[in-house]
Amino acid sequence: MPFTAIVLAAGEGTRMKSRHPKVMHKVLDKPLVWWAVRAARKAGASRIIVVIGNGAQEVRDFFASKPVPEGEAPIEFVEQTERLGTGHAVRVVRDAIGGFEGPVCVLSGDSPLLKPETIKALVDETKAKHNACTVLTMTPSDCTGYGRVQLDEAGQVQAIIEHKDCTPEQRETLTECNSGVYCFCGRRLSENIDKVGNDNAQGEYYLPDMIGIYVGMGEPVSSVHCDDYTELVGVNNRIQLAEATKIMQRRINEELMLSGVSMLDPDQVWVGADVTVGQDTVLMPQTILFGHTTVGCDCTIGPNSRLTDAQVGNGCTVDESIIVDSAIDDDVNCGPRAYLRGHTHLLKGAKAGTHVELKNSTVGEGSKVPHLSYIGDCTMGKGVNIGGGSITCNYDGKHKSHTEIGDHVFIGSDTMMVAPVTIGENALVGASSCITHDVPAGALSLERSQQTIKEDWANRYWERLKKED
Ligand code: UD1
Ligand code: CA
Repeated sequence: MPFTAIVLAAGEGTRMKSRHPKVMHKVLDKPLVWWAVRAARKAGASRIIVVIGNGAQEVRDFFASKPVPEGEAPIEFVEQTERLGTGHAVRVVRDAIGGFEGPVCVLSGDSPLLKPETIKALVDETKAKHNACTVLTMTPSDCTGYGRVQLDEAGQVQAIIEHKDCTPEQRETLTECNSGVYCFCGRRLSENIDKVGNDNAQGEYYLPDMIGIYVGMGEPVSSVHCDDYTELVGVNNRIQLAEATKIMQRRINEELMLSGVSMLDPDQVWVGADVTVGQDTVLMPQTILFGHTTVGCDCTIGPNSRLTDAQVGNGCTVDESIIVDSAIDDDVNCGPRAYLRGHTHLLKGAKAGTHVELKNSTVGEGSKVPHLSYIGDCTMGKGVNIGGGSITCNYDGKHKSHTEIGDHVFIGSDTMMVAPVTIGENALVGASSCITHDVPAGALSLERSQQTIKEDWANRYWERLKKED
């Protein structure tokens, strides 16, 4: 069902002790506010309005750098220049967009764990009961700081009283709390939001005052209780940020394990929100999969590996390696300790071995770069073998140049290929050559000084040293 989501994200977040706005701090690989927006999108929001204030430009820039997923609502920003409270924030939105239509859900930008199902339940309740407002409530073990829900004898919501405005007795006895998530009827919210005043302990316009106002007007309101308090954990400091990250890590990892992915120790695997992992893949400890990373089936990733915006085929091994902005096709082995970056692409059955760095290069089918090499700005055909310690010298201090290596080329160890240079197919380059000219297909190229032999020289040398003692 279409609804509008308002994500409140203007607050300062002083307890984060940060130069960045609170909502830009990350849970796994995404800022807090992104998670709230995603939950709204997944719940089916047709319009998403993010209220920004503190660090507004940073929030705008972040979303501007992310394409809107196909078929999903773009984000509209409304700036709240004075932070006069949650009620004020909603009033600013109403004024900016000229009034609300349909259901309006209000979410907090600092609550990343709320599930889409919970938002849907709130919208459904609002529609079914023609409510002016439905509030999501919770019963945390410690209610300190939360608004308390006042119920009548029949258990109907009467009002919400902020912690600071409660009497000591109310703080003791009222254990059901406001989660800060609501679904309103848009039309009635537009008409009545101005009724919220600021005559309270904090001198702020409280959005939850709408509940008492509606009850006084005889408008229907009700509550939905969220039994899983972890969904509503709010982030106010970096300890809570780490707690929220832990909960999200578990949630994602458990979903992956139930879908057929193994983890030696799920506490030591971090998988971002936009990552997919195929069946029978094993994720070893200290593995981080972030960004738009996809991993196929039957792979072993880790230990000690970081993949960001990486595409991994089926049957691959990535051992103590880093892959950034790069792809490996089926049956590719990486590592231990390979570093692939800058749109590198390894085709089927290729290998990037130990202490190998590959940048902006294509490695053809079955080709191997097994040991201690740097390959940058290179196109390599199939069946190539690059001897240990070989380097494409692609940078002259100013320009980057290309190296072309044909099919079935054999490059001896410790070869320098000074780009731009082309090595034709089936060519052979002798070890320790510095290649500055193109090598024709099928040729041998050798660039090194003649080896000399001095018979018995070493024996005499050792003798002389002994006599010196
Ligand atoms: C709010 C509720 C409280 C509830 C709690 C749940 C109010 C008055 N109280 O308290 O009943 O138990 O959430 O977590 O709403 N914000 C703006 N503009 C403002 C003020 C706040 O955008 O002018 C944003 C904040 O950035 C934050 C959210 O609104 O994301 C909630 O504001 P916050 O000040 O954290 O309210 P709480 O004290 O947590
Ligand atoms: Ca809060």
